[in-house]
Amino acid sequence: GVGTFQRVTPSQLKSMTGRKGKPAWSSWQGKVYNITPYIPFHPGGEAEIMKAAGRDGTKLFMEVHPWVNWENMLGTCLVGVMVPESYGGN
Ligand code: HEM
Repeated sequence: GVGTFQRVTPSQLKSMTGRKGKPAWSSWQGKVYNITPYIPFHPGGEAEIMKAAGRDGTKLFMEVHPWVNWENMLGTCLVGVMVPESYGGN
């Protein structure tokens, strides 16, 4: 439910790179998704989708495939919402 969503700060997002045992998170229009489970299925390959890891993926995504529905594909991977640095902590 909505109550389990996390408030994610920019510095926390930046640390979720998919490396060092951490999952890869990416934000899309202010919402944060765990993209890790989708990486092996990405038609454009792992290297391409990993460019969006730990950051806002909106611009990259829209440059490559604006017709793909991010929210339909990754809706179950929703982690939470972006908040300013000082509003972090759960
Ligand atoms: C292809 C999903 C991120 C690069 C695709 C396709 C899907 C998809 C469904 C097939 C589209 C089609 O054939 O019409 C996603 C999702 C992403 C994501 C859910 C969420 C993060 C990215 C990023 C990049 C990227 C960040 C680049 C930096 C590509 C490329 C292809 C592709 C180059 C074309 C592959 C080909 O046709 O050979 N992606 N993508 N994707 N994606 Fe992504």
